[in-house]
Amino acid sequence: MTDATVLIVDDEKPTRDGLRLALEDEFDCYVASNIAEALNILRSEKVDVMLTDLRMGADNGMDLLEKALALPSPPIAIMMTAYGSVDTAVEAMHRGAWHFVTKPLNLDEVELMIKRALKSKITEKKNIVLEKENQELRQQRGKPNHGLDRLIGSSPAMAQIHSMITQIAPTKATVLIEGESGTGKELVAGAIHSLSGRPHNKLVTINCAALSPQLLESELFGHEKGAFTGATQRRIGRFEQADGGTLFLDEIGEIDQATQVKLLRALSEKTIERVGSNTVVKIDVRVVTATNKNLRKMVAKGGFREDLFFRLNVVQINMPPLRDRKEDIILLANAFLKEFATENNRETKPLTDDAAALIQNYDWPGNVRELRTAIEHGVVMSNKSVIDSIHLPQFLKELADISPNTEIVSSEAKNTLAQTPNLNLSALEQDTILKALQHTKNNKTVAAELLGISRRTLQRKIKEIDQEKM
Ligand SMILES: Nc1ncnc2c1ncn2[C@@H]1O[C@H](COP(=O)(O)OP(=O)(O)OP(=O)(O)O)[C@@H](O)[C@H]1O
Ligand SMILES: [Mg+2]
Repeated sequence: MTDATVLIVDDEKPTRDGLRLALEDEFDCYVASNIAEALNILRSEKVDVMLTDLRMGADNGMDLLEKALALPSPPIAIMMTAYGSVDTAVEAMHRGAWHFVTKPLNLDEVELMIKRALKSKITEKKNIVLEKENQELRQQRGKPNHGLDRLIGSSPAMAQIHSMITQIAPTKATVLIEGESGTGKELVAGAIHSLSGRPHNKLVTINCAALSPQLLESELFGHEKGAFTGATQRRIGRFEQADGGTLFLDEIGEIDQATQVKLLRALSEKTIERVGSNTVVKIDVRVVTATNKNLRKMVAKGGFREDLFFRLNVVQINMPPLRDRKEDIILLANAFLKEFATENNRETKPLTDDAAALIQNYDWPGNVRELRTAIEHGVVMSNKSVIDSIHLPQFLKELADISPNTEIVSSEAKNTLAQTPNLNLSALEQDTILKALQHTKNNKTVAAELLGISRRTLQRKIKEIDQEKM
C-alpha cells in the first residue's frame, strides 16, 4: 500500500462502497456523499487525490472542484462522469480537474488513473527544483556561445558534430551537410558561419529547390540590365552579396546541370560573371551546402556532377536522425517548452513523466522539426501547471492514452479484456493483447494502460496465451 490518500465523493452508496473496496488495498480512503462532507474532510485531512462525481443530486461536482482547488493545499481532482457527458468533463478539466473517468467505471482504469495523477504531482515538484537549478547554471555560465548554443544535443553524435563544427568553422573549406528533413542542417550552416571568424560579414542563404533554373542562375550570379526579358535593372547576385562572408546553398541536390557547371567554375576559379556580362568579378566566399538527398548516390546515378560533388564535399557533416539519438529528445523538448512559453507569454511548464515517456518512445520521422511542433502543441493546449500526455498531439497519445477512446484498442476488445479470467482466450482478445505489446515494444506497463487493465491482469493473460500455445 502507498501512503497516498484518496477522497471518494459520490451520492450513490453502491458506487462509494465499490470504489472504496477496490481502492483501499492501495490507498487510504475517505468517502463523502455531498459537497459539505467532502469539504470538511478536505479541510481537516491531507487528501492527495479527490475522485468526485459530477452530478450528485442537488450538488454539482463542478462547485466542489472549484472550492477544493481554492484550498491552501488542493487535491488532484479526477471527475467521474456518466457516459455521454464528456463535454462537462472536458469543461471540468479546463477548470483545473486533472482528468476524468466515465461511468460505468472500470476499476482497473480508476486505479491506474489515480497512480498516474500521483506520479504527475511528484514529477511536477521534481521539475520545479530542476528548472531552478538549470536557471542558476545558465546564469553562472553567462554569455551564450554563438551558434553552437542553438544547436542543442548532448548525445555522442551531436557532441561529435559540435566539435567538428568548432574545428572546421574557421577554415575556408566548403562543407556539405547531409541529413533527413528537420535534423537541423540549416542551424549547422548558421553555426559554421557564426564561428567562421567572418561573422561580421553576411550569411546569405538561397534555397535551390525554390527557383527555376534561369532564376537560380541569375540569383546566384546576378545579371546586367537587359540580360534577359524582365531584367530591367542590373542586379547583384548572392555570391557577390556574400562576399567576405558565407553563402549557404540549401537543397543543393536540386540544381540543374547547366547551373552545376557554372557553380563549379565559380568555386574553382573564385570568380563569377553576371548573366549578360563579360566582366569577371573576384569573390571571397565560404560555401556551405545542404541536402536531404544522398549526393554520392546521385553522382553514381548521373544526376549530379562528380567534379562538383568533390568541390562541395571537402568536409561532410551527416546529421543523424532524431530516432538515432533519443538522449537528445528531452533536452530539446525542454528548450522548446521554454521557447514557446516565452513566445506565448506563459510560464514554462514541465512535462509529466508520462508525456516525457511518450515523446521518448516515438520515432520522429520529421525529426527535430516535428518534435518542436509537438511541443508547441503541448504548450498551447495545456491548461495546467504541467504538460501531460493528453496535451500532446493525437498521434503521440495513441501510443499510451488510457482514455477509453484510444484507437488501438477497440471498446469491444476492452470489454472482453475486462471480464473475468478465461483460460480459453478469445482470438479477439489475444490479437488485441499482442497488438498492444507490439505497439509498446513489449513495455507491459504501457501496454496494460493502453488495454485499460492492470499490469497484473495483463501478466496473467500473457501467461494464458503462452499456455494455450503450448
Ligand atoms: N539540434 C537542434 N537544436 C535546436 N533546434 C533544432 C535542432 N535541430 C533542429 N532544430 C529546429 O528544428 C527545425 C528544423 O531545423 P532545420 O531547418 O535546421 O532542419 P533541416 O535539416 O534544414 O530541414 P530541411 O531538410 O527540411 O530543410 C528548426 O526549427 C530548428 O530550429
Ligand atoms: Mg533546411
